[in-house]
Amino acid sequence: MTGTTTIPVTQTASTAPAIPVLSVEQVTVRFAGLTALDDVSFTVAPGSIHALIGPNGAGKSTSFNVLSGVYRATSGTVRFGDALLTGLMPHRIAELGVARTFQNIVLTAGTVADNLMLGRYTLTRAGFAATALRLPGAVREQRRHRERAREIAEFVGLGARFETPVGLLSYGERKRVELARALCMEPKLLLLDEPVAGMNTAERKAMAHTITAIRRALGISILIVEHDMGMIMRISDEVTVLDFGRRIGGGTPQQVQRDPAVIRAYLGTGDHAAPAANRTTDGDGAR
Ligand SMILES: Nc1ncnc2c1ncn2[C@@H]1O[C@H](COP(=O)(O)OP(=O)(O)O)[C@@H](O)[C@H]1O
Ligand SMILES: [Mg+2]
Repeated sequence: MTGTTTIPVTQTASTAPAIPVLSVEQVTVRFAGLTALDDVSFTVAPGSIHALIGPNGAGKSTSFNVLSGVYRATSGTVRFGDALLTGLMPHRIAELGVARTFQNIVLTAGTVADNLMLGRYTLTRAGFAATALRLPGAVREQRRHRERAREIAEFVGLGARFETPVGLLSYGERKRVELARALCMEPKLLLLDEPVAGMNTAERKAMAHTITAIRRALGISILIVEHDMGMIMRISDEVTVLDFGRRIGGGTPQQVQRDPAVIRAYLGTGDHAAPAANRTTDGDGAR
């Protein structure tokens, strides 16, 4: 055990896998007639909280979609340690330890436990057939996974809601289910797409606290897209700034906040959720 761990982990520090560096190298993504990402490079250091910021339509969600294998890069590479992620299917990328949450939560079916067990699926060694036949090994394994899912639910503040249908939860609680589901994959890199969008001040504060607690407890890397600049500047080690698909700045929160190009494109606008006036797309229209 690391001694700093607050999610009871099943791994010991000596068997826990090292956290690899994520390297995004000159990635370009083109859709018919539109360049969503243009030669973008950045690196996420192991165990760091790295923010990806920029106006709507800047290419933040596209970056997540490339990292998680949902979109193919037109050119460029993404590496996670020794593994080349570009070209892999989403489930292979998930198996390598990259888990994501989605900007628009769609959870409505099942209980919190059901949703978290879906997150355990990539880790379930006993196949569906063995589980359906209730073979002793499979039953034992299911029980272990359920216990771990419960620990994670408690860690994100959903312990009392474990058996509750997600349809009965508040919006803020459903965002936490989404986070817990990703954590159930025991990721080495967690991709959070707008984790506090639509939340009130108290919920935002609690979520920021949970995100820093995850990093502290698990030592994993976290890449976060968020428009809440107060939160981003408080919790991030490093920030990458995108605008119109290009990387226009990056560095520590202090460096980025002083960068004239970043202020001009994004920080100076005040309303960080709004698309710039000359933008013709709202990116994902989620807000
Ligand atoms: N599947 C897609 N097909 C066509 N255009 C897309 C697709 N996904 C994203 N885009 C476009 O790519 C650009 C970047 O979008 P996105 O990555 O969602 O921005 P952000 O998340 O920073 O708001 C936008 O112009 C958007 O309309
Ligand atoms: Mg987006």
